[in-house]
Amino acid sequence: MPTLLIVHHTPSPNCQAMFEAVLSGATADGIEGVKVVRRAALSATAADVLDADGYLLGTPANLGYMSGALKHFFDQVYYPCLDTTRGRPFGYYVHGGNDVTGAVRGIESITTGLGWRRAADGVTVTGEPGKADVERCWELGATVAAGLMD
Ligand SMILES: Cc1cc2nc3c(=O)[nH]c(=O)nc-3n(C[C@H](O)[C@H](O)[C@H](O)COP(=O)(O)O)c2cc1C
Repeated sequence: MPTLLIVHHTPSPNCQAMFEAVLSGATADGIEGVKVVRRAALSATAADVLDADGYLLGTPANLGYMSGALKHFFDQVYYPCLDTTRGRPFGYYVHGGNDVTGAVRGIESITTGLGWRRAADGVTVTGEPGKADVERCWELGATVAAGLMD
């Protein structure tokens, strides 16, 4: 069964709201035959990445970049997963207070290095997620999961 791995750093209620919406979309009625695995970024391993067929990444913007937790994840898995995971689909969401530019740039840069294929537009939210923001997160999860259906 194809596997979707969600790797997330979720330190606050606003990040949690985005994570839950992404998870809800990825496991929605109509998404058949896709196993969804979720890992906190500090506990995700290269084996998790190698075992999965697609990825969703979630992080706050911190000090102009992705969280240290998600960066640590990439630091750990980059070389063990390089080449083997090339071409696999991914999506991401970023929550920030006012400016998520550096976090987005970092995610786009590292995933380009890995050769992953972005399967949906990244979702960025600043401040408290509104209804439309939550819906965009849901769509992100559903889109990436649906792409893994046989
Ligand atoms: C140390 C620190 C640095 C931060 N740096 C940024 C930043 O560079 N850009 C930004 O948009 N938000 C920044 N934030 C805000 C966080 O992204 C935000 O707190 C996080 O997404 C959780 O959202 P919440 O506090 O609204 O629940 C920072 C927060 C902290 C604590």
